[in-house]
Amino acid sequence: MVQKQISTRTTGNRFKNAILIIYYLLESFVKMFIPLSMMKKKNVENQNILITGGGSGIGQSMALRFLRLGAKVIVWDVNQEGMETTKKMAEEEKLNVKNLHLYKVDLCDSTAIYKVAELVKQQLGPLDILINNAGVVSGQNFLDIPDGKIDLTFKVNCLAHFYTIKAFLPDMIKRRSGHIVTVASVAGRIGVCGLSDYCASKFANIGMDLSLRMELAKANLDGHINTTIVQPYFITTGMFGGVDPGIFEFLKPEFVVDKIMQAILTNSVQVVVPNYFDWVLCFVPSLPHNCLSIVYDFIGGFEFMANFHGRNLPSKTMKTNGVKDEEINNNMANMINQNVVDNNHK
Ligand SMILES: NC(=O)c1ccc[n+]([C@@H]2O[C@H](COP(=O)([O-])OP(=O)(O)OC[C@H]3O[C@@H](n4cnc5c(N)ncnc54)[C@H](O)[C@@H]3O)[C@@H](O)[C@H]2O)c1
Ligand SMILES: *[C@@H]1O[C@H](CO)[C@@H](O)[C@H](O)[C@H]1NC(C)=O
Repeated sequence: MVQKQISTRTTGNRFKNAILIIYYLLESFVKMFIPLSMMKKKNVENQNILITGGGSGIGQSMALRFLRLGAKVIVWDVNQEGMETTKKMAEEEKLNVKNLHLYKVDLCDSTAIYKVAELVKQQLGPLDILINNAGVVSGQNFLDIPDGKIDLTFKVNCLAHFYTIKAFLPDMIKRRSGHIVTVASVAGRIGVCGLSDYCASKFANIGMDLSLRMELAKANLDGHINTTIVQPYFITTGMFGGVDPGIFEFLKPEFVVDKIMQAILTNSVQVVVPNYFDWVLCFVPSLPHNCLSIVYDFIGGFEFMANFHGRNLPSKTMKTNGVKDEEINNNMANMINQNVVDNNHK
């Protein structure tokens, strides 16, 4: 039940359900062979699309993509400078910046989230798509993470999703139309050394999305209000500067955003980037522990985070793993923002 007063479905005819299960399994098997790029995309022209963390990285790139498609894009970010950069990029591309609406919001602050959500609803009306994308990472070993950073990670990466959804889902239910996108990570499917708080927050994203999807189904809203859970591997946006991606390659932001856009516009429930990781992630975590740690070692897992510096400049002694510094730190504004966030939440 999404809300107590909404009529919900109860256990149905089991014979009919068994037939439906077989039908949908066959359908999804056939669909496995059709690339998403060939599937029909939904039209988002004039739709209201909110993207948190749209002042940098994946969020910034998604904002530009949706502007190109004629959508009204609402960006929430704590980093005003980053949002201005998004706007400047849109202007340079001669996109219609009247369709771009910037709101400075600190997602750690639930009161601010609800307040700005009301403002957005008054000024622009209900949302068609809500994309919870903003995220932070501490990148420290378990015992070294200050409590403040653990709190910050959970507030931004996980709790804020609950508040934004609580603010915008009721209107979607009223209109029986909407879409909630959650940007999780491959780190929401497997444990990683040096990322315990981050992984925990991303696992939480997946649990939240799955439960919400079931509540929507229970309320007979599946097929009307869709959800998409996004799980990419390491991307060169700067968030994971200094990471050694092991036997796999760092992903380019534009490649990841291509996949995310395809998934959103085809109403896919899940997208893993790269695609084949979905199989790896089903298989690897179910290995027996002694075997898992050897496989983890083999893929370079113990060293992923050894030289992590995030958006801070790397120290001279650090290896750069073949990824250029300018690629890692491609958004100076964000480094400043990171400091603001760090200072606010010590
Ligand atoms: N970069 C990767 O390797 C990678 C891999 C998998 C998943 N992800 C996820 O993708 C999403 C986007 O990552 P990115 O690489 O574009 O990161 P990014 O650092 O480039 O962008 C994150 C944005 O979130 C904003 N933000 C941070 N704290 C905020 C707060 N308190 N209030 C409002 N906004 C806040 C930042 O200002 C920034 O603009 C994140 O959820 C991240 O966890 C990233
Ligand atoms: C949700 O997905 C279904 C099935 O793909 C589609 O028919 C419907 O239009 C989607 N709803 C929205 C709001 O995109």
